[in-house]
Amino acid sequence: MASTVSFSPANVQMLQARSGHGHATFGSCSAVPRAGPRLRSTAIRVSSEQEAAAAVRAPSGRTIEECEADAVAGKFPAPPPLVRPKAPEGTPEIRPLDMAKRPRRNRKSPALRSAFQETSISPANFVLPLFIHEGEEDAPIGAMPGCYRLGWRHGLLDEVYKARDVGVNSFVLFPKVPDALKSPTGDEAYNDNGLVPRTIRLLKDKFPDIVIYTDVALDPYSSDGHDGIVREDGVIMNDETVYQLCKQAVSQARAGADVVSPSDMMDGHIGALRSALDAEGFHDVSIMSYTAKYASSFYGPFREALDSNPRFGDKKTYQMNPANYREALIETAADEAEGADILLVKPGLPYLDIIRLLRDNSALPIAAYQVSGEYSMIKAAGALGMVDEQKVMMESLMCLRRAGADVILTYFARHAAAVLCGMGPK
Ligand code: PBG
Repeated sequence: MASTVSFSPANVQMLQARSGHGHATFGSCSAVPRAGPRLRSTAIRVSSEQEAAAAVRAPSGRTIEECEADAVAGKFPAPPPLVRPKAPEGTPEIRPLDMAKRPRRNRKSPALRSAFQETSISPANFVLPLFIHEGEEDAPIGAMPGCYRLGWRHGLLDEVYKARDVGVNSFVLFPKVPDALKSPTGDEAYNDNGLVPRTIRLLKDKFPDIVIYTDVALDPYSSDGHDGIVREDGVIMNDETVYQLCKQAVSQARAGADVVSPSDMMDGHIGALRSALDAEGFHDVSIMSYTAKYASSFYGPFREALDSNPRFGDKKTYQMNPANYREALIETAADEAEGADILLVKPGLPYLDIIRLLRDNSALPIAAYQVSGEYSMIKAAGALGMVDEQKVMMESLMCLRRAGADVILTYFARHAAAVLCGMGPK
């Protein structure tokens, strides 16, 4: 995957040193003979700054031959003395272990460590989830310090603007829907003038080049707080729900969504969504499937944010059992066959093995969702002074990448991108 192959200056120097082309662009790093006048105008030459520096170092005008003769005769200024760093008093005097392999050799300096770093992360890997509501003011979310339900016409635009400033260009929208618009069949989900389609149109108008992901599921619109239609006996009806979801996805696509993201875990939903989108001419709208979405307690703060807690029961008949690993392969095969463009694992950090499983079993891009509970735990421990919030944040994101995630949905996107841009917090 392109995301695991990246160039940083630390890598480039190594490549050039090995291939012997260092002098072409890094004149100062290699011993290139002084170029003759004919070569001066070509790319292969010592830069004029370097000639100037050489003149300062050799003011006597002595030739190379004279200097070499001096070196052969042992006449050169004494180099800095060799110093043997002292061990503290009382350090035992021992015979060094007889080991051919000492992996610490490759970690001994920052330059070596960064040259050998296997995983990288950039703001381009982030998708920022945004909570929106009908209000004018932003409303703080108690269980998610630093996150707000954003006013769709004000706070939201400000947040997107700030995120783009640090290189985050991808967003996923989650609406807080007024109770009066919720119903057992979630029909508000496909209202073309509903909060989500309206917001997409506004965002696309203000920021045409951003990537907008949408959530496809009925829970924000369901008076039962479930992702699908609930039958009298509590059963979540699969195919009838998929029918509603198709209308929802098409409505989002019509408004300008780039990637629709079904998080509902109904069977057969990806194929049905693909057909529905294609039938309306939205062949270019991508599908990011929540392939392995577990019935997790880590979603608690999110449900508070959207006021979308299930009114009864749990989501265990559609979301996966956290104890299961192989089952993720069944979902992966189905989603691939049905035409998903991106496969998502959720939650993130407690499910690194599942991210790796999907990475190793599909060539599609893999997304990981660092969910609300993961965010809140890091925030809470940081606020209590128990961990360094910023360092734990960056480490958790790097670990999601190491496990195999190409993109990460994270409430930390703006903060982490600012750190990566060298701009510190926020
Ligand atoms: C619902 C949905 C949920 C999340 C994303 N989409 C909650 C749920 O399934 O109950 C959770 C995200 C988070 O916790 O950050 N379709």
